[in-house]
Amino acid sequence: MTILLNATPAPARDIDGKAISALVLDEVREEVEVLSRQQIFPALAVLLVGADPASEVYVRNKLLRAREVGIRSLEYRLAENASQAEVLDLIAQLNADITVNGILVQLPLPAHIDEAAVIHAIDPIKDVDGFHRENVGGLVQGIEVLTPCTPSGCMRLLHETCGDLSGKHAVVIGRSNIVGKPMATLLLQADCSVSVVHSRSVDAPALCRLADIVVAAVGRPGLIDASWLKPGAVVIDVGINRISSESGNRLVGDVDYASARTVASAITPVPGGVGPMTIAYLLKNTLIASQLQRAVGIRQAEPAFV
Ligand code: GUN
Repeated sequence: MTILLNATPAPARDIDGKAISALVLDEVREEVEVLSRQQIFPALAVLLVGADPASEVYVRNKLLRAREVGIRSLEYRLAENASQAEVLDLIAQLNADITVNGILVQLPLPAHIDEAAVIHAIDPIKDVDGFHRENVGGLVQGIEVLTPCTPSGCMRLLHETCGDLSGKHAVVIGRSNIVGKPMATLLLQADCSVSVVHSRSVDAPALCRLADIVVAAVGRPGLIDASWLKPGAVVIDVGINRISSESGNRLVGDVDYASARTVASAITPVPGGVGPMTIAYLLKNTLIASQLQRAVGIRQAEPAFV
């Protein structure tokens, strides 16, 4: 018999966001086909103000994926110096347009525009980002509403990886409105015990070492390494940080992947982990928005409109 002394544990397996997002996109495509046979044609309007290069890429990918699954996508662009009134006018038009089921305003907006005013101008039933206060409140109360796309995508990755999450201790690192807070709420609804760690937490690594599930969403490249993790933890890295060096640009997460995978049991890579899930859940939300609108009797687009 051979006894291995000091055997190094197996490295974590990758959680494949590309493959899991492909499952979600297939689900959306199938439902779009069913709806089209009923002469219902879900549509997503995406508004970009200005020409931020990263936002341009995100918007292009969202529109492309929408078309791939058969969702009608409408692109609206306003100049960097567009006034807040112009943005609000366009949103009012899209709210009133029965051919539009989902409205997404790409963030960040130019500094002279009040982001909260824009988010809250979107009709909550078309708010496919799930950022409107009515949807945020509904999420906290466990009512079926439109839920932010990145946290929804992370939950799917966790369910595919761990199955039932009940009783697990989850630590969310970061408390943003877009990811940290809704993520903590969704984990709580999945019966996890949830801690939120942030910049004022005392000994964040020690808190994180208690976690079965770690979700990192702080925007600090490589902050979380093996020393933050309990052996066997499942790690979801939401960070997408662009690092420039002499050899070019590369994307890294908030987790030091090489270090963390020596301790974790499963981990999302960057890129190829959470990123593709966000778009897949945006399209899923467009279908949910269209369903919610039908449920309250809002007339859907007639074939002649599409
Ligand atoms: N900018 C970065 N992430 C997001 C997102 O999830 N939604 C919108 N609207 N803008 C973003």
